[in-house]
Amino acid sequence: MLVTAIEAKPLRSLDRVRVELAPGIVSVIGPNGTGKTNLVEALYFALTGRSFRTSDRRDLIPFGGSLARAEATIRDEDGIERKLLASVSRSEGRRHLLDGSPADPAAIARSRPPVAVFAPDRLTLVKGPPAERRAHLDGFLAARWPARGELRKRFGQAVAQRNALLSRLAAGYGSPEDLRIWDAGMAAAAAPLVEARAEAVAELAQPFAAAAAELGLEKAALEYAPRAAGAAEEIQAGLEERREQDIRLGRSSWGPHLDELKLNSGERSLRRFGSQGQQRAALLALLFAEREALLAARRVTPLLLLDDVMSELDPGRRERLVARLDDGGQVLITAADEEQVPAAARKTVVPMPPPQTEGDGA
Ligand SMILES: Nc1ncnc2c1ncn2[C@@H]1O[C@H](COP(=O)(O)OP(=O)(O)O)[C@@H](O)[C@H]1O
Ligand SMILES: [Mg+2]
Repeated sequence: MLVTAIEAKPLRSLDRVRVELAPGIVSVIGPNGTGKTNLVEALYFALTGRSFRTSDRRDLIPFGGSLARAEATIRDEDGIERKLLASVSRSEGRRHLLDGSPADPAAIARSRPPVAVFAPDRLTLVKGPPAERRAHLDGFLAARWPARGELRKRFGQAVAQRNALLSRLAAGYGSPEDLRIWDAGMAAAAAPLVEARAEAVAELAQPFAAAAAELGLEKAALEYAPRAAGAAEEIQAGLEERREQDIRLGRSSWGPHLDELKLNSGERSLRRFGSQGQQRAALLALLFAEREALLAARRVTPLLLLDDVMSELDPGRRERLVARLDDGGQVLITAADEEQVPAAARKTVVPMPPPQTEGDGA
């Protein structure tokens, strides 16, 4: 599956800006402030309906405007082209259309490649709280095993139900006996999620360490630290043990909603002790490991978006990074200067289109 074009119409600083993409590595070059990150965001938005920079999609609306839209053209293995259009409007909320019609998220997910993004402000994935890493890991396992895509949501609903009862019990209403059913529900949803996360990390650990080493980060390790593990019955027993404490707290104090995905260098947590450069290498290595796992498993080519990554790497590491990408998958690289992009990534170089001014294209 290939993305053949992206168009911002409009999105942030970009209006009627269209960029054609080729297979393999495409490098988009333009000075700072010309909207490269906005273009990457437009592509991500068109494909996923979300932004990787903000949880409030209205930030994508141009200053003074009322609507943001981005459209991606995707060509599948049979050469059939489809269009994904995401929009957010102040008055009408958001939409995600496949070939002009509303489609359910599963149909949209099937019609597009999995997508991963590196951007400088995404370092929060490494240095931020565990919740982001859990969400990221769950996103990977949904791409890796589509049939497991609902596990996260199902578990989230089960915890919410148990917590709702706990908070009523904490307030002195209801009977603790009623917890049984929610303990069972939460445990039943937890067990397959924990199992999938463990399998995902087992698959990623080796390629993660290898990619990190190539980027100069020695002894890097990816480790899944589940709170609860085992079969549903064991997890349910664990919940029962913590019942009194949970009733006092009014929430579930134990379970996969508190799991951690540890990124370490040797024994040390990169989140707590890593330098900026090490954290960046770890994030890149994680994305590479995921890409490798997806390529190996499903032979779908995940789309990798690398925003402004070259400026932060020395020339040797730039070369090694590009060598790692030269495996058939589609990659979009942005850089301020073509000189920063190794020759192997200059097969397709696209200048960042200048911003359209009032009256252009009329
Ligand atoms: N909602 C918005 N509406 C209009 N312009 C915006 C919006 N958000 C950001 N910008 C502008 O986009 C420009 C930066 O674009 P960006 O994609 O970060 O550039 P680059 O990545 O090429 O350095 C800035 O001038 C910024 O003010
Ligand atoms: Mg930028």
